[in-house]
Amino acid sequence: MDLKAFIRRLPKAELHLHIEGSLEPEMMFAMARRNGVALPYASVEETRAAYAFQDLQSFLDIYYAGAAALLHEQDFHDLAMAYFRRAQADGIVHAELFFDPQTHTVRGVPFETVLDGLERACRQAREELGISSRLILCFLRHLSEAEAFATLEQAQPHRHRLHGVGLDSSERGHPPAKFERVFACCKDLGLRRVAHAGEEGPPAYVWEALDRLGIERIDHGVRAMEDPALVGRLVREQVPLTVCPLSNVKLRVFPELARHNLKEMLRRGLCVTLNSDDPAYFGGYLGQNFLESALALELSRGDLVSLARNSLLASFTTPAERAPWLAELDAVAGA
Ligand code: ADE
Ligand code: ZN
Repeated sequence: MDLKAFIRRLPKAELHLHIEGSLEPEMMFAMARRNGVALPYASVEETRAAYAFQDLQSFLDIYYAGAAALLHEQDFHDLAMAYFRRAQADGIVHAELFFDPQTHTVRGVPFETVLDGLERACRQAREELGISSRLILCFLRHLSEAEAFATLEQAQPHRHRLHGVGLDSSERGHPPAKFERVFACCKDLGLRRVAHAGEEGPPAYVWEALDRLGIERIDHGVRAMEDPALVGRLVREQVPLTVCPLSNVKLRVFPELARHNLKEMLRRGLCVTLNSDDPAYFGGYLGQNFLESALALELSRGDLVSLARNSLLASFTTPAERAPWLAELDAVAGA
């Protein structure tokens, strides 16, 4: 079996996917046209040409501008369904979707509109594509604690429709501790907790996310490798890291894929998973992240199986839900 087919056949969970980051320029333009929204670029081609980023912030500026095309329940539904179709083509059996309600509520889009559209797509993906999913509400860390609390307040009536909370946006200068009280409330509400840390920010942010936010998975975490004591703890506690190789290259966390520390992370015994982050902006969905990483870093098929297994084990599914996927994974690995 060739490498592409092997990757496709591995049952995989995607645990770090910003649904707004799966908005392809074609869909962005179609929605902007039907919604009467002005975009900063004249065409799909011009938009793609602008996707040359210097760092996280230069990406975020463009990403938030693109999200302005999303207004109606149908838009959020269509966005998520387009992602689920790509996910199925990549052999994803389970996806935990991040969404950024503050990006939308600030433009006057009701919280419910966002949630209704995404949830309808999750139901449809289950029924039509056999993909299970969860929704994770992310707080924008460049905004204030008070704004995060206001968002949590809006989310309260929909608590049962949300599985967890995360923390994203501009990392530097916005340490996890800024949201310690928000995450304490989320814990009391029974929400699962994750946070971006150690993408551009220092290892200290990863410590903080663990100790002060009580997070259960680290999103990115590649800079944790600079701190041997932190690596020791992450290995000991098997804290999952949702690594996004193509994203890291596009945002210049690493100069090229061949220099990514993902293989070293695996060798150190960390619970690494592969993810696409914002695939419409970073040059590929999950299958492409697997394929390009395997080629650039000379990962073995055993490594790819480990990455897929880690993703299933690190997901917020129950052991009973993931048992059939793990059995299928063993079958593919042994074939
Ligand atoms: N929001 C969307 N993608 C992100 C990333 N890679 N880091 C932080 N915030 C984000
Ligand atoms: Zn991310």
